[in-house]
Amino acid sequence: MSNAQEIIPSNESAFIEQLAEGLKQRITEENKTGIMRRDTHAKMYGIVKAEFIVESKLPSDLAIGVFQDAKTYQAWIRFSNQDGDKPDIARDIRSMAIKLMGVPGVKLNAPTLASNTQDFVLMNPPMFIAKTPQEFYGFFSAVQGNWLNKLFFFSTHLPLVFNLFKAFIKIANPLQTRYFSTTPYLLGKQAVKYSTIPHVTKPDVIPQNPADDYLRLAMREQLQKGAAYFDFCVQRQTNADDMPIEDPTKVWSESLSAFCKVATIKILQQDFDNPTNNYFGEHISFNPWRVLPEHRPLGGINRTRRVVYEIISQFRHAYNQVERKEPESWEISAPRS
Ligand code: HEM
Repeated sequence: MSNAQEIIPSNESAFIEQLAEGLKQRITEENKTGIMRRDTHAKMYGIVKAEFIVESKLPSDLAIGVFQDAKTYQAWIRFSNQDGDKPDIARDIRSMAIKLMGVPGVKLNAPTLASNTQDFVLMNPPMFIAKTPQEFYGFFSAVQGNWLNKLFFFSTHLPLVFNLFKAFIKIANPLQTRYFSTTPYLLGKQAVKYSTIPHVTKPDVIPQNPADDYLRLAMREQLQKGAAYFDFCVQRQTNADDMPIEDPTKVWSESLSAFCKVATIKILQQDFDNPTNNYFGEHISFNPWRVLPEHRPLGGINRTRRVVYEIISQFRHAYNQVERKEPESWEISAPRS
């Protein structure tokens, strides 16, 4: 098998379609607030203004797409949890969704919504919990099913159970956490994974009696004092057997291929905890396929996301009667009264 090569099972699209229908049903049933929320990652810690500063003199195999020129993009970054509206101290997956602005060109999620934006969607575990769309659909169905369904599925998918235990953790501050794409993406002709690595001088600790939203408070406190920084890094696929495309449960070893910095993320000193930002963060959408063709997502889990993110975003915006619109700048409007 060669690097960056995808292998698409013939029955894959059936699982993807069933999953999309199931997700629509779940967010409809779970809608208790009158606002249709995202299926996952609904609890936002904050959406913040950032600069994405591409390194100069990158090697030619990395200076591609949005990394081609040493330029600075304005960006929005949304930090969130993964699993429902729980107190922040609960074990959970945490995430960092980055939207660059000022990226001209047709994106792979078009033609549904043309934009000058490009998204990078990351979360804190280095691996995803399921290998394939089929396995993820099995997981989703078991979680929705009765105890017998759960018992059968989990007892026959022990590696997935193990991944869930590893992925669900406690953290002190979303600005001091490392994040991963977990799934691969094309960069020119090669495959890469992404990771964002925080600059941390004095790490926060989890408070003794944490407030339900202590992660938002930790971000607020840090960004009141100054800017926060991350390195945005890519890891090249150097070996198709040990660094597979079709199995995001397998972490690509950093001893086989180190992460290389391609940009600095500077999250500006700011007060982000206000109704305008919170409304914007609720109704914005991220999509791993909102990318230039040079950054095409790879693998079955990403092929699933191509269908699902679009359907769920359209569905919740239609229900909420909010226009789906990509930001052009850091200027955003106040919520409807
Ligand atoms: C088959 C697998 C997956 C499914 C079905 C799925 C589904 C979804 C859905 C429906 C949304 C909400 C989209 C919207 O309404 O705008 C979402 C958001 C998100 N997903 Fe996934 N996802 C999958 C895999 C992944 C993976 C591998 C990652 C790894 C980085 C990931 C990270 C995220 C993040 C961070 C968000 C929140 C983005 C935001 O802040 O709005 N997902 N996902």
